[in-house]
Amino acid sequence: MSIKRNFSLGNYNSFGVKHKANFFIEIKNKGQINDIINNKKYDKVRKLILGGGSNILFTKDYNGIVFLNKIKGIRKISEDDNNVLLRVGSGENWDDFVEYCVKKNYYGLENLSLIPGSVGAAPIQNIGAYGVEVKNLIERVEGIFLNNGIKKNFNNKSCEFQYRDSIFKGKLKNKFFITSVDFVLSKIKSFNVSYKELKHLDIKSISLNSLRNEIIKIRNSKLPDPGDIGNAGSFFKNPLVDRIIIDKIKNEFNDLVYFKDGEKFKIPAAWLIEKCGWKGYKENNIGVSDKHALVIVNYNAKKGKEIKELSNKIIDDVKDKFKIKLIPEVNII
Ligand code: FAD
Ligand code: EPU
Repeated sequence: MSIKRNFSLGNYNSFGVKHKANFFIEIKNKGQINDIINNKKYDKVRKLILGGGSNILFTKDYNGIVFLNKIKGIRKISEDDNNVLLRVGSGENWDDFVEYCVKKNYYGLENLSLIPGSVGAAPIQNIGAYGVEVKNLIERVEGIFLNNGIKKNFNNKSCEFQYRDSIFKGKLKNKFFITSVDFVLSKIKSFNVSYKELKHLDIKSISLNSLRNEIIKIRNSKLPDPGDIGNAGSFFKNPLVDRIIIDKIKNEFNDLVYFKDGEKFKIPAAWLIEKCGWKGYKENNIGVSDKHALVIVNYNAKKGKEIKELSNKIIDDVKDKFKIKLIPEVNII
């Protein structure tokens, strides 16, 4: 196992910022994680797990060990007439795995096509898109505690999944290395076309592959490609608010977009940010996408601090105008 020193993370985060890590280690199996944990030399050293780096903002050099997760493998655990249970190495590429399922005619993940990143990061923020959240397909998450090397399995309930959140993003943040995720997928044909942009589709004539292609087409038209311009997708979560806030905003803006979500209401953060005039904003090397107001973009900044400062200005502005505090979705380090 090679341990790189003073290693540039520039190619390992989708914002493309150029901060460095003291130590950088590619992990291919669980044994290698334990080797580091059991090595006294690294006892007191901070540790960070990195998948595809597509939901992370480094704001300075990382004074510690970065584990680049490359644990691979897709294994069928069980199968019956209705379902299949797959155990997937957390370092598999997420979209490659979705494509694999589509080709095998396993239903459930197709609406999550083209989300960048790794399988192991999917439960962290309970990734979601186009009417589907990954929590509905996860049976179990397995991993290792970074402080003592002890292995633990979490069943679906104990993952404490919520909108863009889980126990792994909460009290276990940076404490637990997810090594594999078990998914239950359906072998029975069923599609979710509830999202407004999919409603025109006729479920009788679509296939897994055509739905996947439709999702890819929509995503490419709405979100900037990190291969072209640095970004981490939605920078903020969509806020959940009470009816009273909706009524107040509607008094001033009759075009308010909102959705009922349980007892609360979800307002697209993009709508709030656009109303504050940030969409397409550009300052020096950074800005806000002109395609989507929720995406902060990095044209050429080498340091993440500038991006964080811009995100704070947006938070303050939305707070002033709408009395709503936006919460970053991106993990700021
Ligand atoms: P990283 O950025 O590497 O890590 C994210 C966090 O998880 C970090 O805190 C990291 O320490 C931790 N982590 C990573 N792997 C592990 C592990 N194995 N064990 C423990 N902790 C770990 N997200 C959505 O939900 N829906 C979308 O539609 C969506 N669209 C996007 C579009 C674009 C263009 C981009 C750039 C991002 C988008 N995202 C979306 C966000 C991102 O793709 C997801 O959050 C994805 O799951 C991140 O995976 P990653 O491997 O890149 O995670
Ligand atoms: N909108 C604007 N201005 C914009 C863009 C959107 O006002 O520039 C408004 C429109 O009214 C639009 C609404 O926001 O109808 C919702 O936009 P969109 O359908 O693009 O979804 P979103 O709420 O902005 C969420 C997720 C995305 C996910 C899409 C599709 C969050 C924080 N973001 O975005 O996830 O891909 O839905 O399901 O929940 C991510 O998490 O990184 C991410 C990209």
